[in-house]
Amino acid sequence: MTDKTVPRVRVRLGSSRSYDIEIGAGALERLGEVSRGALSPHARRIVVISNRRVFDLYGADAVRALRSAGFNVAHWLMGDGERHKSLLTAGRSLGFLAETELERSDAVMALGGGVVGDLAGFVAAVYLRGVAFIQVPTTLLAQIDSSVGGKTAVNTPAGKNMIGAFHQPRTVVVDVRTLRTLPAREMTAGWCEAIKQGAVGGLKLLNQTCRFLAAWKRFSSAHHEAKTGADAQVVEVERGLAKLIAAQCAFKARIVAGDEREEEGRTDYRSRRVLNFGHTIGHALESATAYKRFRHGEAVGYGMLAAAEISVRLGLIEASALESLRAAVHLAGRLPRADDLEHESILRLLRLDKKVVGGHVQWVLLERLGRARIVSGSEIPTRVVRDSITAALQSST
Ligand code: NAD
Ligand code: GLY
Repeated sequence: MTDKTVPRVRVRLGSSRSYDIEIGAGALERLGEVSRGALSPHARRIVVISNRRVFDLYGADAVRALRSAGFNVAHWLMGDGERHKSLLTAGRSLGFLAETELERSDAVMALGGGVVGDLAGFVAAVYLRGVAFIQVPTTLLAQIDSSVGGKTAVNTPAGKNMIGAFHQPRTVVVDVRTLRTLPAREMTAGWCEAIKQGAVGGLKLLNQTCRFLAAWKRFSSAHHEAKTGADAQVVEVERGLAKLIAAQCAFKARIVAGDEREEEGRTDYRSRRVLNFGHTIGHALESATAYKRFRHGEAVGYGMLAAAEISVRLGLIEASALESLRAAVHLAGRLPRADDLEHESILRLLRLDKKVVGGHVQWVLLERLGRARIVSGSEIPTRVVRDSITAALQSST
């Protein structure tokens, strides 16, 4: 049953490509009917791409819901982890789509976190020059960010997300109950991305996120063991979580609708580029530690603090705004230590970042908490960047 208190979010991209994000506790039960409504009337077959861990947890429910809506369903499982988001995996899954004779009117579905979503979306974008795609995100990061907006990619030895395509899903189905099984560390990574969206999306979203996060943490520590069942409190907390995810998705949907392809010339506070807040240093930290130490969201946690440090040093924001952001990141959870990393190696990696334009990093900074300002690296002294990195990496949370 649809929970009427949680708004359905629409991503507005013109009549033929607009789509809905369905959010709620138990939304997986509606996966069949929602998919039927989103796909061509000729769609017969769906290939679900997932990994073993997620499929063991939610595959049976997803497949049952799809079959009850009359779809012929097959599944293909990829390895778990960032290193499997590769051309090799994409090639193998494309082979599977061909073997199952998936047709132009059929669909690919991603069931999993951002790794599965990015890979399955890429495969859907290129198979038969593009088939319909549905996202069923099962991590917090994927539910508020990566499943929305149509960025798909695989990694290559030359870098993360080096090969990809814009390919919007036909619909996104977010079942917040799937987060019951998500490890705490993955929740922390997702919360960091939620704080990021609040930091650039508006004080209202940031405050809503922090308020819910504080309540959610109190609830989780008090009800460590009561993560299942229809306990009234669990229902209430999951309804709050669904509403927050809806608010986060609504923000992302607005950004995507206004700047779908992240236009190069856009530097305003509503350009898609603002979603990269914290990512410049974040990517460098991931790369400096060979993608082994940090979850993506955790690295973004430090990256946001570094960007805010730069913003303070340039006189864009008050130190108190940095402190508020630090408190928010602290609320997200403990981050792996970073104070042993060399700022010089981080600086070197920044020069290789994909966001370099005309030889300069395009920094997403803050002009106040809740509003981003994009500033070219040519306007920021290296000393400021270096000192800011050092200060941010010292912040043990
Ligand atoms: P992930 O996909 O690796 O998932 C994290 C871990 O959680 C995995 O081990 C996964 O198997 C497990 N898992 C997933 N759902 C679970 C559940 N419900 N219960 C138990 N375990 C579960 O990581 P992620 O943080 O979701 O995604 C990171 C990826 O997303 C990166 O590759 C990043 O580049 C990408 N990303 C893409 C976009 C975009 O716009 N396309 C945006 C942000 C991030
Ligand atoms: N996660 C960044 C984007 O979707 O643009």
